[in-house]
Formats: sequence, structure tokens, C-alpha cells
Amino acid sequence: MLQTIQQTADFLVSQSELKPAIGIILGTGLGGLVEEIKIDKSISYEEIPDFPVSTVEGHSGRLIFGTINEVPILAMQGRFHYYEGYDMKQVTFPVRVMKMMGINTLFVSNASGGLNPDYVVGDIMVINDHINMFGDNPLMGKNENKLGPRFPDMSEPYSKRLTAMALEIGKENNIDLKQGVYVGTTGPTFETPAEYKMFRILGADAVGMSTVPEVIVARHMDMQCFGISIITDSGVPGQIVEVSHEEVQEVAAAAEPKMTKVIKELVSRV
Ligand code: HPA
Repeated sequence: MLQTIQQTADFLVSQSELKPAIGIILGTGLGGLVEEIKIDKSISYEEIPDFPVSTVEGHSGRLIFGTINEVPILAMQGRFHYYEGYDMKQVTFPVRVMKMMGINTLFVSNASGGLNPDYVVGDIMVINDHINMFGDNPLMGKNENKLGPRFPDMSEPYSKRLTAMALEIGKENNIDLKQGVYVGTTGPTFETPAEYKMFRILGADAVGMSTVPEVIVARHMDMQCFGISIITDSGVPGQIVEVSHEEVQEVAAAAEPKMTKVIKELVSRV
């Protein structure tokens, strides 16, 4: 595994003069951040050795070297979801590669269903913790001690420093940011009313189908993580209505300018 990661990292390093400091996974609702990137090089996933290829609608699958406010970043336009059939190692492979390229900070975004009754559709939640309900873990199997410890600490999955900065940015720009726990589950089904209720009882504020695997791997390698989520539908009893992928995309698109603003500012301050 180490050798494959190294080969892919070497290939990517040879593609641009930029030395990215931050890796950004552009999930649903952050696609528009691409317009804020001064692009140096954009590479299709198909062209990258050993990279899986993204299939889900609304994710185009390119790795982008560029700068945001002069800060060099590497952005993933489109991520790999477990529900697409990739295993946990494939889902998290790009994060391994980022670290090998010298990136020590990871930004992740996603769309989620709201569980906290104080949330409304369109709200933006800074992820301050997560619950892994995938029933799987990307660190299963032989541990690669060169990458990280066998039993990684998870006491600060999301950087308190980055979280505090983001909340400050929200205040300065009149952007209401919630804070809460994200529960990650496999999908691809959205939750039944009973499942939404269960996740709320378990202590989550929002539920989605990504992010947890990437953050586990990032923390294994001691990368600082920041996560942000758009509440695109409600899982609160009494408010649950039929939900579709299209609606999720629409709500996320509407919240996009606010998300973009927060991330853009945060990049400059890291
Ligand atoms: N559940 C799971 N994933 C999601 C949801 C949801 O309600 N909304 C957007 N992604």
C-alpha cells in the first residue's frame, strides 16, 4: 500500500510547481469553490495512477492544484463514496496521497439530513465530532506504522483551532453557523423515520454518507481536519418529507455562497 501511495504522490508532485498546504474535498455544496481557485493544473481522476474513478451524479472527478487568496491548495472535485462500491481503503486513498505530498490540513464538506430540532433546511453546520456508523473502518487490517499508529487517538477528530476560526469568520460575516455531531452511515438509502430518530438518540445532529472514513485516515496520519455540512433535508419527527438527490443538490447549491465564503476565509487564516 505504502508504495502505491508513494507512486501516486510522486506522480502528482511532478504535475505542478505548487506545494499545497491544504487539501480540500469538495463535497455537495462546495462545488462552487472551484470558481474561487486560481487554477494551476487540473487533472482528471482517470489520468492519476491508482486513483479510483468517481461515478455519482454531481461530482465530476478532478484533482485541482491552485491557490485561494495566494494559499496553495489541492482540491478534490468529487469524492469516492462507500455506497458506490469502493472499499474503505479506496475511499480514503486520496487522503493518504495528500499526506504523502506534504499536506497536513484537510477540509471536508458534505450535505446531510438535520436531526437537531433547532436546525432548518439550508443551515450550515460546522462538524465538531462524528460517529462512525459505517460498520467498517478504513484502518482495518495490518497497520502501516510509517503512516500512523495501530490505535489512533480520536479525542480531537476536528481541529478545535480551525473550528473556532470558522465560527469567528461566521460572526464577522453575519453567517449563522451551527455546530454539531455528524453521524456517517453507508447510504445509499436515506433514513427511515425510525433511523433518523435512532441517530438523534445516539447523539448526532446531522446524518450523511461520507466524511467519516476520510477524517479517520487523516487523523491516523495526524492531519488537522475541518468539516462543514449543509443541512439539505430534515430528519426531525413531524418534519420528515420525501427527499431526493435532486433536492439535496438544490438546497446545497443555495447555501453554497455562504460555505464558499467561510472556506475561502479559513484558507487564508490557517
Ligand atoms: N441522510 C443521509 N445522507 C444525506 C441526507 C440524509 O437525510 N441528506 C443529505 N445527505
